[in-house]
Amino acid sequence: MADERSQVDTSASAVLSAEPQADAQPQAVADTTISELPSASTAATTTDATTTDAQPRADLTKLPRTIWWQYDEADGLAGIYIIDQTRLPLQGDVLVCRTLEGVILAIKTLALRGAPALGVGSAMALALWSENESNHTAVEEYLAALDIAADRVASARPTAANLAWGANRLRDFAHSYAAEHDGSSYRSIDGSDDGSPDLLVNLKAAIVEYAQMMATEDEATNRAIGAVGAPLLADGSRVLTHCNAGSLATVFFGTALGVVYTAFDQGRISHVWVTETRPLNQGARLTAWELSVAGVPNVLITDSMAASVMAQGWVDAVLVGADRIAANGDTANKVGTLALAQLARAYNIPFYVCAPSSTIDSTLADGSLIPIEQRDPREMEGNNASGIILPDNNDAVRALDTLTASGEKELKLKNGHQMLLSRKGGAYSFDAWFKTTPPGVMVYNPAFDVTAARLITAIITEKGVFSPNSDGDFDLL
Ligand code: MRU
Repeated sequence: MADERSQVDTSASAVLSAEPQADAQPQAVADTTISELPSASTAATTTDATTTDAQPRADLTKLPRTIWWQYDEADGLAGIYIIDQTRLPLQGDVLVCRTLEGVILAIKTLALRGAPALGVGSAMALALWSENESNHTAVEEYLAALDIAADRVASARPTAANLAWGANRLRDFAHSYAAEHDGSSYRSIDGSDDGSPDLLVNLKAAIVEYAQMMATEDEATNRAIGAVGAPLLADGSRVLTHCNAGSLATVFFGTALGVVYTAFDQGRISHVWVTETRPLNQGARLTAWELSVAGVPNVLITDSMAASVMAQGWVDAVLVGADRIAANGDTANKVGTLALAQLARAYNIPFYVCAPSSTIDSTLADGSLIPIEQRDPREMEGNNASGIILPDNNDAVRALDTLTASGEKELKLKNGHQMLLSRKGGAYSFDAWFKTTPPGVMVYNPAFDVTAARLITAIITEKGVFSPNSDGDFDLL
């Protein structure tokens, strides 16, 4: 067993742990700190011309990129590197995926999450499959297998439109490239030509380039959403956001929080109300963390406190992301968004949906057709805890060694209660789940809900601000 240890703090300087795991499982990367990662933004803040020197600015330099492509220095193998969002904020673990199945697992477990990040992740997953797993010699067979891989990753989670969008975009690129270059020389996606004749080799190289281009494009799209949305907010606004539609939900910068970062630099934000976002607490764990790291004042509330702060006149606007937007503007987002939209309407507070145009699903007429993900009841039946034991705490290490010698350990407790303990993250890391609900309780755990278009003040995309038509619907197509 690898014996690297981890040491973490909330400012994101996390020394990471590593432990060999099964092939298809993403692996934790050792000895990397988030703040040392080469892939953090080159642009520290937004760059609005109206910003003055006296104006506090969001510092994005300490936020990591969420996902990136990298070849292993030792074996040359391609890898997708992912900030493990199941462990943030206390552990800044980086996972490396070497296989399509590994990325699918990361998506299902929410290590990689957030609609725009999933869009890039699904495209990169196909490029990874192409590099590390495809062994075809004929282009036709390769494309048929790519289609199967695309369907697999696209269906890893059902609600976020971007997941299938990313896979389909990469797949369409591959088919067009093959059709255009059949028997011809290589032309990379930037238009250059190296004269090489091998279509399959060149196709594979072009796919990798294309997936990385999509990652770059994601940040540009989010910065455009920020620039478009910020002017909608008055100076010193107190905005409320739900779940995490921040940098962590994208490759970098964020959608709803992209608007916040841009607006903050312009003096338009005094603070952000952050809903904790039960059951997985993406607000409390991820949004509160990234806003704090960026230096944007934020206040955490439980989901059930939103009405109270709105009733007291303390919220000037609600900004949320989106997982899928139907053609009429009905919007699926993290469960709880609908309640916030209803409250915003009741208290006459503008309610803005911020998303890239890739989240718009023009094939669905309205929100009743959006598939809603149902998740594991255990997310509601208990609480997760994970941590890293201090290296000199030998007693704790020994106790965990004894308990978890044969892998995940289930401790049966009195009255049907349960505790699961595992050591997925490495020798000093542990994950625990404590059951808190009565045995046999029935659970309903939809991950998303649908907000009707008529409750949305405007949809902000990189293409502009869309307002409802006279019927209360949106003309997004
Ligand atoms: O289940 P998650 O964490 O993937 O849900 C994410 C959300 O609901 C986000 O708010 C949404 O994807 C918008 S992300 C910019």
